[in-house]
Amino acid sequence: MNTAVAFDIYGTLIDTQAVLTRLTDLIGEKAPAVSQLWRQKQLEYSFRRGLMGDYCDFSVCTRQALLFACRQLQANISDKAVEQAMQAYAELDAFADVPTGLAALQQQGRRLYAFSNGSRTAVEHLLKRAGIADYFTGVISVEDVRSFKPDPKVYQHLVNSCGLAANEVCLVSSNSFDILGAAHAGLRTAWLRRDSHSIFDPWDVQPDILLDDFNALANQLITNT
Ligand code: LAC
Repeated sequence: MNTAVAFDIYGTLIDTQAVLTRLTDLIGEKAPAVSQLWRQKQLEYSFRRGLMGDYCDFSVCTRQALLFACRQLQANISDKAVEQAMQAYAELDAFADVPTGLAALQQQGRRLYAFSNGSRTAVEHLLKRAGIADYFTGVISVEDVRSFKPDPKVYQHLVNSCGLAANEVCLVSSNSFDILGAAHAGLRTAWLRRDSHSIFDPWDVQPDILLDDFNALANQLITNT
């Protein structure tokens, strides 16, 4: 049985959709396209920095990606609006199904960890705001090893922090690149399909668990581990 379950944060436990609402207030009709490119570039910048060995706080990737997306799509954004959009990113809520799903896992006696590209401070702030911080044994940030997902060393850092073997830790993420990174490092994986249209990368690797409902996780872990 897996004794630890680790959760990706942005898009898995924490709903980034509210950023789009805020961005719409700030820049108007280009917000949906900017928001999509923003997330894509944020991840690309983290991948590139990981490869280059040029670590920075994830919020730097987020801010620079927002600037890129606005310039690329010719959306005017003032310095003040950049700060407001960044503030919205720092104050996102959890998905509605998260507290009950975490409570069920806690009742099974599993240790839960938050595991993110975000800094420990940023993640702790989000978990506290969402009222779910107490479910977690620990917050593991990539900042400790100064790289980003999917560098194998960040997953190894998670495993070491749990004090378990890699196959005793299950990563739950809605990001398929994160699932592939965790599987490559020997962890067990649960891909949470938050968006029914999202496609799992066709890399001939499958997640151990496929979830369409966060609240099904506790039962799925019993049958799959
Ligand atoms: C995270 C990003 C990848 O929380 O969603 O690590």
